Parts: sequence; structure tokens; C-alpha cells
Amino acid sequence: MKLMTVKEITALEPDGREVVVKGWVRTRRETKTAVFLEVNDGSRLGNLQCVFDAPGPELASELSKAGTGASVAVEGRLVPSPAAGQRLEVKAHALRVIGEAPAESYPLQKKAHSLEFLREIAHLRPRTNTFGAVARVRNRMAYAIHEFFQARGFVYVHTPLITASDCEGAGAMFQVTTLDLDRLAQSGQAVDYTKDFFGKPAYLTVSGQLNVETYCEALSRVYTFGPTFRAENSNTTRHLSEFWMIEPEVAFAELSDNMELAEEFLKHLVRTALADCAEDLAFFDQRIQPGLVDSLKAVLERPFAHMTYTEAVALLEKNAEHFEVKPYWGLDLMSEHEKFLCEKIAGGPLFLTDYPKEIKSFYMKQNADGKTVRAMDLLVPRFGEIIGGSEREDDLAKLETRIRELGLDEKAYSWYLDLRRFGTTPHSGFGLGFERLILYVTGMGNIRDVIPFPRAPKLADF
Ligand code: 4AD
Ligand code: MG
Repeated sequence: MKLMTVKEITALEPDGREVVVKGWVRTRRETKTAVFLEVNDGSRLGNLQCVFDAPGPELASELSKAGTGASVAVEGRLVPSPAAGQRLEVKAHALRVIGEAPAESYPLQKKAHSLEFLREIAHLRPRTNTFGAVARVRNRMAYAIHEFFQARGFVYVHTPLITASDCEGAGAMFQVTTLDLDRLAQSGQAVDYTKDFFGKPAYLTVSGQLNVETYCEALSRVYTFGPTFRAENSNTTRHLSEFWMIEPEVAFAELSDNMELAEEFLKHLVRTALADCAEDLAFFDQRIQPGLVDSLKAVLERPFAHMTYTEAVALLEKNAEHFEVKPYWGLDLMSEHEKFLCEKIAGGPLFLTDYPKEIKSFYMKQNADGKTVRAMDLLVPRFGEIIGGSEREDDLAKLETRIRELGLDEKAYSWYLDLRRFGTTPHSGFGLGFERLILYVTGMGNIRDVIPFPRAPKLADF
């Protein structure tokens, strides 16, 4: 008999056909006359109820081993369920316990566990409803990202993870080296990077943008989607040291085109989640973030709001009593300010544009005012920034001057400057933090719970 998943079986008609189901026991319940196993294989949130009526001694002994967490194979007939709660069930006649999970030692018992506790057993947490649902939503979103760009003629470019250039110019990079640090320290000698693996200092990338721009200036519409690394000491519910980022880049596009693309993109992802992850989103709505589904539906219904940074700061200054950090022009806005703007002013996603150049990266296009750049951040309720992007500086002289002003290593960016030396064009792009997207569509509160194995300061377990 062909093995079907719980999702496939529960989509069938309960016409009495024979089925085999393999998965893990979520719960075992006993009544005077029957034993009930709820079996889950992760193919969907819902379990498949398997009912063993009046089991004989052999079956009863096997059932006694089928506690929470055990892996099992059940054979039976698919019939309508007489009880409320499920449309169908398996009237089981055979059971094989494949691997037991002793109740004394298996950490995931039937009771609800805190997310903090589950973080300590990240290797077992995918077996819970919450983490199964997060994994399925994450998967669907990753696929939807490719669908969105492929349907619009974007080329997927694989940018490197090891790099010698600091894209954001913020110096928050992890170094990659094969030098023997212990030996070096003992010798007391200065580091000679010509002896290092790459013959010079190398790092894990903070962004694929600079590399993807090179393909943009040849293939017009491109995107990269991969892991990025930040060595900032940010211990928050919104920051990871290793996270995934989606970065589209479009030639001949200006900031307004960039924002249009970002809005269409985010709406496409929300629409897909509502349509294809309905069971999981209903679970998040019920257990994690009440009102989630309605708020996501509302996002689709109207255009995102827009405001300049300067306008936003004026508004924040009028409401200064709400904030721990007092707002002023030039401040790199904190999440408390971003949340206030979305939740209290815009009532939904909000694009902020034209930030002071001092708080943004060197590559952003300079405005005529000499103070601001063609940057845009998309802010959302609950946690603030979900997307950061800009129009890029396409003027060679201005870009060179900015690199010099900031004291960056001009030589290291020489290849990047070539894009302005030869056939320069206006172009724009942005980065969507994949885990921030998953926070957004699931309503989960901590970014460490939407990636399988989170990396953060002092945290690299598993
Ligand atoms: O605003 P950021 O730093 O922009 C860039 O990296 C640009 N190179 C993007 C581009 O224009 N191509 O990061 C982009 C997004 C943020 O808006 C946020 O969603 C996410 O990446 N992000 C993080 N997510 C998790 N943990 C962190 N430490 C993050 N830092 C940024
Ligand atoms: Mg940013």
C-alpha cells in the first residue's frame, strides 16, 4: 500500500478504504472500550485520529508502548468520525511501534511548554504544533518569493557568503580565517594576512547587495536570497546574528518604483500565506496573536502609507512623552518610534523615505538638499522595520567622495565603482529580512522562534 501523509489522507473521502499512516503519537487516550491515538506527521497541523476498539492482548501491549512522541505505523479503514472535532478517523486494526519515547525521559509531554523552554530543545521543538506551523509557513514563503520574482522576469543570482567588502560599511562582520590564533597570540607577532587562507582579511557577508548590483547592471532585474551575518551585539527579539535576506535590484528604477515593488511583493506574500497556510494561520490567531488573520487581510485592502523621515520626526517630537529615547532630527529611529508611527499614525505598514545621510549606508543616492538620501524603510506594526532599501548613487564622483568622507577603503570598492565608470544607470533595490517576514505573517513574538536554529550573541547551540 502506498504511504500517504496525514494531509493526503485527511483530504480523502471516508469510504472505508484501507490506509497506512506513519507518524508520531501526539496523545494517547483510553476509554473503557477503546484506545485513541492522535498521530501527526508534520504534513499539516491537524492530527489523524486512530481508534482501536476493544483491542486484544497483543494489540493492547503494543498500544501501551505508543505514548506521546513514539513513532508508529497504523493500519486501518478510513471512516467518518462519529465524534465532533474531525471529519474522519482511522478504524485501526494493526499497530507497530517503530521507536518508543519513554515518558520519564521524553521532554515533550502533552502539556503546553513555554517558548523559552522549547528554545533549549531546538532539536525536538519541530514536533510541537507551533514550530511545525512556523516551519510550514517558512517553507511556503520561501517558495512564494521565488514565484513572485520568477513571474516578473527576475534572475536569481547566487551571491557569495565569504567576502572582502563590507556592504553596509558598518563594520559588523564576522571574520573568516584559517590562521592559528592560539599560536599567533603566543608568538606575540603581528598578524600577517598574506599568510591567511585568502591572502587578505575575509569576512562573512552582511548583505549580497553589492555583488547583486553587478548582475543588475547587466541583466536588469535580479534578486538574491540567502543567509547573511551580522556581528552586532544586539540581544533583541528582532535581531539574529545569522538571518536570511531577499534582495531584489532593478536597473533604471527610481525610489518610487522600488517602493511599488516592495509593496506588491509584501502583499503577494501575505495573500499567499492567507490562501495556502490557512490552517496554520488560524492556529497562530487562536494561540499566539489574536486578530492576526484580520489584520493581514486588512493589509491587502489599502495602499501603504508614505512619509518622509523629516515629517516623521516632527510627529514624533510632538509625542515625545511616549518614548524612552527622545526623538530628534538625525536620530536613527528605534523600534519604539517605528512602532508608534505604524500603529498610532498610519494604522498599518508605512514607508519612511529620505533619511539623513549620516545614518544610512554610503551607496545611497544623495538628494539635492545635501543632507538626505533616497532611502526607504518599510515599517510595520508590532516590530518596526521589515524592509530597508534605496535608490543607489549612480554618480561616480559623488560616490567616490562619500566613500572618502566615511574613511572607507577606496581600493576595496574599486570594482563596485566600475559599475558607475562604465554604463552607469539609475537603479534601486531593497532587502527584506526573511525572519522578520515570518514574524509578520505568523504573529510570533521572538525572531529566535521563526528560524530552526537561531544564532545570537552567546548562542550557537545545535
Ligand atoms: O536595512 P538592512 O541592513 O539593509 C541592507 O542590508 C541592504 N543591503 C538591503 C538592500 O538594499 N539590498 O537590512 C535589510 C533588512 C532589514 O530591513 C531587516 O528586515 C533585516 O534585513 N535585518 C535583520 N533581520 C534579522 N536580524 C538582523 N540582525 C537584521 N538586520 C537586518
Ligand atoms: Mg535597515
